[in-house]
Amino acid sequence: MSIVLPVFTPIEETQYLTLCGRALDNHLPHPILADPMAEELVGKLGYDCDRFRLSASPIINIAHRAKKLDEVASAFIARHPHAVGLDLGAGLDTRVLRIDPPATVDWYDIDYPEVIGARQRLLPDRDNAHGIGTDLTDPAWLDAVPSDRPAVIVADGLMAFLTQDAMISLLNRLIGHFPSGEVAFNGYTRFAIWAAKHYHGTQSVAELIRSPAFDDPRQPERWNPRLRLVREILLTREPEVAQFPPALRRFTRLAAHSTAVSRRGTTVLQYRF
Ligand SMILES: C[S@@+](CC[C@H](N)C(=O)[O-])C[C@H]1O[C@@H](n2cnc3c(N)ncnc32)[C@H](O)[C@@H]1O
Repeated sequence: MSIVLPVFTPIEETQYLTLCGRALDNHLPHPILADPMAEELVGKLGYDCDRFRLSASPIINIAHRAKKLDEVASAFIARHPHAVGLDLGAGLDTRVLRIDPPATVDWYDIDYPEVIGARQRLLPDRDNAHGIGTDLTDPAWLDAVPSDRPAVIVADGLMAFLTQDAMISLLNRLIGHFPSGEVAFNGYTRFAIWAAKHYHGTQSVAELIRSPAFDDPRQPERWNPRLRLVREILLTREPEVAQFPPALRRFTRLAAHSTAVSRRGTTVLQYRF
């Protein structure tokens, strides 16, 4: 029997798009992320992912960027086994289960209270994994997070929904809270925002997009002097492209020759502070 969740606001509802992307990826002959729990969750909820009419490209895209963010978080935790991990706008993502940090790491999934409530009903409990139900633009939520340990902060699919001022304030608060750390998120160039507003699968979120986007991955360095770009991960150049279905693989390999064209697709931006 499917579990009935509360009615979410449109912004909270966006979690289903990415959850469906990961669930559908798991169903592909060669999954990129391979997250069986995403598929299980969709089954438990009886959610109809067909409503998004997602083709292979966005499915793979959602799974691929999740995998890169997992890699950033895992690599940081391997170097800092007493770190704090944060997933901003976590939705129903099972990242903490995928990356399976050691018990010395405290992991925080942060999203609106209804979403965190749904996570608590749907996802297995885990020692040292905590949910914080809040609006991320409210400065008070960080008080619940230790401030004396290095932090790895990821945000998957969040930044498009924040105004530039809200994103800058959030980054500044995070950087001010921790002694050191890394922050990584999928970047949105102006073209990517335009495409998200016009592609049928993401049109449902078009009216919610608030970010003006930025094309230069170094732009955030100008917002906070402690922030340094570590890596702009162009997904077109990552090894998983070899697993893409043939037509998408050929197209992606062509796009990979040009940084400008690659930036029209998804990038994952990784910064240190
Ligand atoms: C596209 S979903 C991505 C969810 C998840 N990261 C994933 O990959 O499945 C965006 C998420 O950001 C959350 N979100 C957007 N703005 C927020 C805010 N101001 N405060 C807290 N959560 C927010 C939404 O509730 C939603 O769960």
